[in-house]
Amino acid sequence: MFETRDLCWLTKEVQSPGISTWYIDHSKDSPFLTTMEREMPLLFEGISYSNKPEASIVFSIIEETALNQDGYRIEQATQGYEVVSNSHEGLLFGMFGLYRLLLTGDDVTFPYQSVPDQNIRMVNHWDNFDGSIERGYAGSSIFYDQNTFRGDMELIGQYARLLASVGLNAISINNVNVHKLESFFIKEESLKEIKKIVEIFSSYGIKTFLSINFAAPMIVGNLTTADPLSLEVETWWKEVIGEIYRIIPNFGGFLVKADSEGEPGPFTYGRNHDEGANMLAKAIKPFGGLVIWRCFVYDCTQDWRDRNLDRARAAYDIFKDLDGRFEDNAILQIKNGPIDFQIREPVSPLFGSMKKTNHILEFQITQEYTGHQKDVCYLIPMWKEVLDFDTKYDGKSLVKSAVRKNSPNQSNSGIAAVVNVGMDRNWTGNKLAQANLYGYGRLIWNNELSSQEIAEEWTKLTFDLEKPHLDKICSILTTSRDTYEDYTCPLSVGFMCRPSLHYGPDVDGYEYDKWGTYHYADRDGVGRDRTIATGTGYTKQYSKERCEEYDCISTCPDELLLFFHHVLYTHVLHSGKTVIQHIYDTHFQGVERVLEYQVIWDGLKEFIEEEAYENVKERLIQQEKHAVNWRDQVNTYFYRKSGIPDEKGRRIFD
Ligand code: GCU
Repeated sequence: MFETRDLCWLTKEVQSPGISTWYIDHSKDSPFLTTMEREMPLLFEGISYSNKPEASIVFSIIEETALNQDGYRIEQATQGYEVVSNSHEGLLFGMFGLYRLLLTGDDVTFPYQSVPDQNIRMVNHWDNFDGSIERGYAGSSIFYDQNTFRGDMELIGQYARLLASVGLNAISINNVNVHKLESFFIKEESLKEIKKIVEIFSSYGIKTFLSINFAAPMIVGNLTTADPLSLEVETWWKEVIGEIYRIIPNFGGFLVKADSEGEPGPFTYGRNHDEGANMLAKAIKPFGGLVIWRCFVYDCTQDWRDRNLDRARAAYDIFKDLDGRFEDNAILQIKNGPIDFQIREPVSPLFGSMKKTNHILEFQITQEYTGHQKDVCYLIPMWKEVLDFDTKYDGKSLVKSAVRKNSPNQSNSGIAAVVNVGMDRNWTGNKLAQANLYGYGRLIWNNELSSQEIAEEWTKLTFDLEKPHLDKICSILTTSRDTYEDYTCPLSVGFMCRPSLHYGPDVDGYEYDKWGTYHYADRDGVGRDRTIATGTGYTKQYSKERCEEYDCISTCPDELLLFFHHVLYTHVLHSGKTVIQHIYDTHFQGVERVLEYQVIWDGLKEFIEEEAYENVKERLIQQEKHAVNWRDQVNTYFYRKSGIPDEKGRRIFD
């Protein structure tokens, strides 16, 4: 089955007459020799292994502190290239790095050195044992099918090479919402199957993790409690973990969603989250395992009448005071924003303020709130904004460095993201959504790459196109996040989407519900007041400088205004427009941009292979309908509320 899969950005072979053989020193010790023997001829046309150090490409282990754990350097040698690294993992990443450079790096200068900016570079699967994927938009799970392990190891091998080729080194393979059957993944019968998956990922330098159910001692172990401070529970976990490592010695560890959206957790027993995480961390420590503990904890049974409760505050309120109380193999995983992967949110106030706890930043590649991989939405610009955000603690502290520097054990820090792949032939449903997976890996390895550079790399590796055509695809990608924001989320009012589905407009869908995501639109104005004086006081969770900036209407950035303030429709933005006119303009503009994308794409018809062309064409037609629907519902809604007409006199339904 796997031959028919789209090879994404690994479709081309490097053709270079000078490159004919390769050699790896210390080859006998290399854990990845078999992997490289398989990969090299796929990546470099006509290349073969030679046991001579004067081969065209030589891989060597050296000792050089600056290259860190996974970094590598590529040097030009008389016979071709030499790739050097401290580790075999680094050589593997260097192999893919050389491939990429030779295909895309027109103006690259050697020696070329590349050291990852983040240590843990992970993807999280939200795959269920029945084959469904929570928030998946590219078919069913590549791992599971109808409550069995799918067992397509070639497919998993293809996936592992895709991940390793962009520098990823960790994966969790089941949903963070761990249902009944998946709770038993920690038992021998499943572990034997999981071991096969782990071996494949390991052969590409990728560590495998499982999401576990905090109540497993009861569900799986038949205990009467899952209290983390109960000796019985502790002993049970120790035994389970011992069994896991007996079967899978190179197992990565656990990912845990506790006390969140119906999942059990320490709060059930009046315990705190450090107590829950540490119990597991201590038990797994002797085996070198990690416990990744999510901070996505909030009250999802809120009364919309209660204006004091603010979901945005939850993670900081719960975790900030626990800073410094976690074991050094426990890691907190923090979503990029305080609510839930909206197209526009401020950065979570935990970044910069947590200084004594290992942490991981969590992004979402799967397009839950960002178009379901029907609408094109290249997410790199959004992630870059988060990484480059200055939390303004201690003068200057950017998120990308705070994640590492504020983690006491820096090897236990990094970035994770909910991934967007499934059984669809092209992995991601929308062909253009491949750019998000590619770009995620590239960006978290090298935080300095620009959105434009990543888009150019991806298009060059993916399509056989000349420059002007490549630029056109890049122009769609790099503007698509703004476009999606234009028609769905004016001035950071999120959650106007259809409840549960999270696709399509429903302005009041969440307004009188329990989820804590309200826009409070009335006849005069819109937005959530999160200021200190009159609102929920959320602004106080930021550094002094950021707090002052957000708390004051006149300094709050336009794009975040309605997240922090309730303002009149006639309020004038820094842009010079009123809030209501901004809403109208962006919604008309969003649709116009989608129409422009269609024209650009149509113009590429004769240059792109048919399957990819049709795949995107079909989705752009759907995106247009979607954008029109958003435009008309949102504009009509706010026109009816405010009674203020569009100053440009365009058609708004009444
Ligand atoms: C969102 C999403 C859920 C998911 C949750 C999480 O709320 O809609 O499907 O389980 O995030 O991150 O755990």
